[in-house]
Amino acid sequence: MPTLLHVDSSPLGEASISRHLTSEFVTQWKLANPDGKVITRDLTKSGLASIDGQWIGAAFTPEDSRTAEQKQALALSETLVGELLEADEYVFGVPMHNFGVPGVFKLWIDQIARAGKTFAYVDGKPKGLLGGKKATFLIATGGIYGEGTAMASFNFVEPYLRTVFGFLGVGDTAFQTAGGTASLNYGASREDLLTPQLEAIRARFAAEPAAVN
Ligand SMILES: Cc1cc2nc3c(=O)[nH]c(=O)nc-3n(C[C@H](O)[C@H](O)[C@H](O)COP(=O)(O)O)c2cc1C
Repeated sequence: MPTLLHVDSSPLGEASISRHLTSEFVTQWKLANPDGKVITRDLTKSGLASIDGQWIGAAFTPEDSRTAEQKQALALSETLVGELLEADEYVFGVPMHNFGVPGVFKLWIDQIARAGKTFAYVDGKPKGLLGGKKATFLIATGGIYGEGTAMASFNFVEPYLRTVFGFLGVGDTAFQTAGGTASLNYGASREDLLTPQLEAIRARFAAEPAAVN
C-alpha cells in the first residue's frame, strides 16, 4: 500500500501557510492514491525533547543489550523512525524561523538520525538508509530568499534540509517555497499569495501518473 508521511512543524495552526500547503498536498495525494495510507505527524504536539546523555548512551548500546530505561529513552525515536521507514513518500511543512528550521523540526531530526536505522557507516563512509524514498518540502518564509536575491545567503532552511536528507539517502527531493508571507501583515491577500502555490502543488500531481498498486 502506498504510504505518505505528512509532517507539520508550524506552531500557527489554521493561520499557518505551510500547513495550508501540506493539507492541499495530502488532498491531492489521496486523490492520486485512493488505496494509500497517510501517517500524520504534528511536531508541535509530539512531546519532542532535546536528546540527552541517557538517549545517546541508549542509541549507542546494541539493541539486545539495552536496559528497560534505555528502551524507554528511545521509545519516541523508535516510533518516529518507524514512520519514516514505513512510508514511501514524505511531505514536510516547514516555516522559516530565525533563518533556519523551527526548533521542533531540529529536535525531530535529532530523534530520527540514528546510526544503524536511518544511516550507517560502510567501509568508514556514511551511507543513508532511506534510499528509494521521496520527499517534498513545502516551506514558508516571511521574507524572500530566492536565488539571486539580496537575502539568498540568509536561507539556512533549504540547504540544511538538502544536506540532512541527502545524508539519510533520500534521493528524490522537491522544494517549494511560499516566500514573502510577511506581506500578509501589511494588507496583502492570503488568497493571492496562496493561489499560485496551491496551483503548483496541483500541477505537480497532474503531471504524475497515478500510482499503480
Ligand atoms: C519565531 C519566528 C521566527 C521567524 N523568523 C523568520 C526569519 O528568520 N526570516 C523570515 O523571512 N521569516 C521569519 N519568520 C516568518 C515566518 O517564516 C513566516 O511567518 C512563515 O509564513 C511561517 O510559516 P507558517 O505560516 O507555516 O507558520 C519568523 C516567524 C516566527 C514566528
